[in-house]
Amino acid sequence: GPLALWGGRFASGPAAALADLSRSTQFDWRLADDDITGSVAHAHVLHAAGLLSDDEVTGMVDALERLRADVASGAFGPLPDDEDVHTALERGLIERAGTELGGKLRAGRSRNDQIATLVRMYLRRQSRALSGLVLDVVDALVAQADAAGDAPMPGRTHLQHAQPVLLAHHLLAHAWPLLRDVERWADWDARAARSPYGSGALAGSSLGLDPAAVAAELGFTGPVENSIDGTASRDVVAEFAFVAAMTAVDLSRLAEDVILWATKEFGFVRLHDAYSTGSSIMPQKKNPDVAELARGKAGRLVGDLAGLLTTLKGLPLAYNRDLQEDKEPVFDQVDQLTVLLPAFAGMVATLTFDTERMAALAPQGFSLATDIAEWLVREGVPFRVAHEVAGACVRTCEERGTELWDLSDADLAAISEHLTPDVRSVLSVEGSLASRDAVGGTAPVRVAEQLAAARARSALL
Ligand code: ARG
Repeated sequence: GPLALWGGRFASGPAAALADLSRSTQFDWRLADDDITGSVAHAHVLHAAGLLSDDEVTGMVDALERLRADVASGAFGPLPDDEDVHTALERGLIERAGTELGGKLRAGRSRNDQIATLVRMYLRRQSRALSGLVLDVVDALVAQADAAGDAPMPGRTHLQHAQPVLLAHHLLAHAWPLLRDVERWADWDARAARSPYGSGALAGSSLGLDPAAVAAELGFTGPVENSIDGTASRDVVAEFAFVAAMTAVDLSRLAEDVILWATKEFGFVRLHDAYSTGSSIMPQKKNPDVAELARGKAGRLVGDLAGLLTTLKGLPLAYNRDLQEDKEPVFDQVDQLTVLLPAFAGMVATLTFDTERMAALAPQGFSLATDIAEWLVREGVPFRVAHEVAGACVRTCEERGTELWDLSDADLAAISEHLTPDVRSVLSVEGSLASRDAVGGTAPVRVAEQLAAARARSALL
């Protein structure tokens, strides 16, 4: 029958249906190496507390390291009767160290503090790996922004032409949120870096074990302050899940731009063959599947976050078995981002922009109307009046089917006494762009600074 960890007070083993329900090795086995690392640290504090002799700790650590090697090679793995990663590894330890020595490791710890610690170890490592992959997307955006130089494009609000902007400015507008996502993981790590090991089942350990020593050995800044909190809280996991979901949402917004820009109607961008797909029936098709999968997976990652928060809502302290459900949502997020991010970075890096078309469209849709209004303000006209006058210019042109720069000196004078021919200095995309030269604006000088700043931020993270 199953080698359960609690034989003493039970006359029968678990029903097969319970074992099937209870089993978590199919997803928590990925924590096996971290569990062994935790066990080695635990053996050390048992030794320090005089609960393992010098020979015993040597034998224990040796058996754990052999088990680690067998896990890595695949020689050791979970069996159907193993409830979870901890149960399986205890079996593996006893097989290698014998029942007498192997049976000593469990003193002073519970699977409750163990699992809470392992999840933090795993997520801290993954947050660093994912941050690196997010920075690859940022670097691809920065490189594209650099290559775009001073190329203009139509800037949009409500998806309608609004004001011309630099393509580089728009691309960097996607880079900054991703840089913040990486910063969020770094900030999160300060809270994740407390070790629950030593919390026991909920009340702490009576055996004189030093939680600070375990924490230090496992790369944490220290132990948790409260053993109930250490075993029962999962806000650290939920916060990781938020950053993962936010990252996916940020990618999804860029993905939507790419999808739209790759349409015939926009024609702003071409996808590289290596990062687009064909159709099994329509020979002409070139589809933006990477971007669409990013958009689709964003929904999935948001669902993972929502599911996790819903599991936590209303759970009484301390540990409840519901908490076993914390892992699959974040593991799914890690797995999805791990496959998505490299493809996404490759897609971004290989986009080719039709900068001529974008430049031609930049002043369309009367996107220089605001420049007329602001030119008038600089001439001393109140903005309320200036807005009216610029609006009248648009109305005249719309009626005639012409553009703002087609207005003659006489047209301008007829619309308003304030409109002298000098207004034409801002009726060009270049003039408009150059005028938006406050910090954060789209003027080429500011965007060049911004590009350097984004590059520097990425290099720091
Ligand atoms: N497998 C459990 C989890 O993932 C840890 C074991 C705690 N189980 C228990 N019955 N106290 O949370």
